[in-house]
Amino acid sequence: MEQAKKRLLVVFGTRPEAIKMCPLVNELKTRERFEIKTCVTGQHHEMLQQALRVFDVKPDYDLAIMQPEQTLFDVTARTLQSIKPVLEEYAPALVYVHGDTTTAFASSLAAFYLQIPVAHVEAGLRTKNIYSPFPEEYNRQAISLVAKYHFAPTQMARYNLRLEGKPFESIYVTGNTGIDALRTTVRAEYTSELLDWAQGSRLLLITAHRRENLGANMHHMFRAIRRVLAAYSDVKAVYPVHLNPQVKSIANEELGDCANIRLIAPMDVLDFHNLMNHSYLILTDSGGIQEEAPFLGKPVLVMRETTERPEGVEAGTLRLVGTDEEIIYYACRQLLDDPEEYARMAKAKNPYGDGHASARIADITERLLFDE
Ligand code: UD1
Ligand code: UDP
Repeated sequence: MEQAKKRLLVVFGTRPEAIKMCPLVNELKTRERFEIKTCVTGQHHEMLQQALRVFDVKPDYDLAIMQPEQTLFDVTARTLQSIKPVLEEYAPALVYVHGDTTTAFASSLAAFYLQIPVAHVEAGLRTKNIYSPFPEEYNRQAISLVAKYHFAPTQMARYNLRLEGKPFESIYVTGNTGIDALRTTVRAEYTSELLDWAQGSRLLLITAHRRENLGANMHHMFRAIRRVLAAYSDVKAVYPVHLNPQVKSIANEELGDCANIRLIAPMDVLDFHNLMNHSYLILTDSGGIQEEAPFLGKPVLVMRETTERPEGVEAGTLRLVGTDEEIIYYACRQLLDDPEEYARMAKAKNPYGDGHASARIADITERLLFDE
């Protein structure tokens, strides 16, 4: 007798989760044995919609929780409350959450309260300092506590989970679904007005948003960039500014009147990935960009004190520079002045899988839900 379809729910709420979960949603939809629904919390609004459009994913549930200047309390409480009826009504056999956001943490907690199994995508990343990144390191450790299945992007992530005592058979190394996304977005024939503007210059690409960098750290980061732009006439910068009002205000204050930089709205992921592909150097405190840059062979100065992505540092593409103005300034100068140092970092390596992580996760899920 044919078995009934299994119901799956994929939950996410921010831009980076959307970029890494939409490839999985689209893969799961090709599997006949699953009924699949997507629930977005709406922790991000515009930035989430941008990513959904690129991957043509239309959520079945939108909890629309975002508020301007939301606190961690707001995001946690509003997600927990509003996802409960979705979980009760749809009653999925498995809920997928991603990474380390508060959306992922609160959704996994809600599923746990209703005793619905949780699958954690991008599991096992660790800095082991719950204040850095804050609150993401706590979130990812807390999700690991309730997850039944851990989809780890790398062997290192698997090792971290084993050290915490997760059973061998609950962990699967799949690669990172972010590479699945990147394989579909980067195109040789890509052109844009921004690339025309940067033509003939070395292009710095900048992003910043980490909560622990809001305030003094961000001022220091941007002052370093300002000095670099003043020192080199052949360098231009593009900075798609995060919609967080605190980030916008510091960016405008420190870089608003600076020549040779374009402060622009967040870009959709197709444009952003192609711009990365044409950039000379990336300065960021982002997590996802640390995974994408090694694939593209683009050096990254990571403006953070810690990273949960040591694979990229080992590959040579990432360098942790923290948030000190002098250190960032001289690290940039070194890469702009020393071709050998630049070439050493600009080697394409890909510690994050072959771009088929979503298919692997879907295969494993079929096996777990139907054959075991
Ligand atoms: C969140 C995640 C972080 C992730 C980042 C990706 C948590 C605790 N943090 O941080 O892990 O790296 O997203 O960008 O889950 N805003 C808008 N429109 C948008 C998006 C944001 O206006 O589309 C503004 C809102 O005013 C919001 C603020 O940005 O209050 C901050 O957003 P929030 O999701 O709370 O924190 P992030 O710093 O973005
Ligand atoms: N990104 C994007 N548009 C932008 C900036 C970044 O699409 O203007 C993409 C980037 O390629 C990566 C993801 O957004 O896939 C990273 O998101 P973010 O830095 O906001 O979050 P994090 O990865 O730090 O959680």
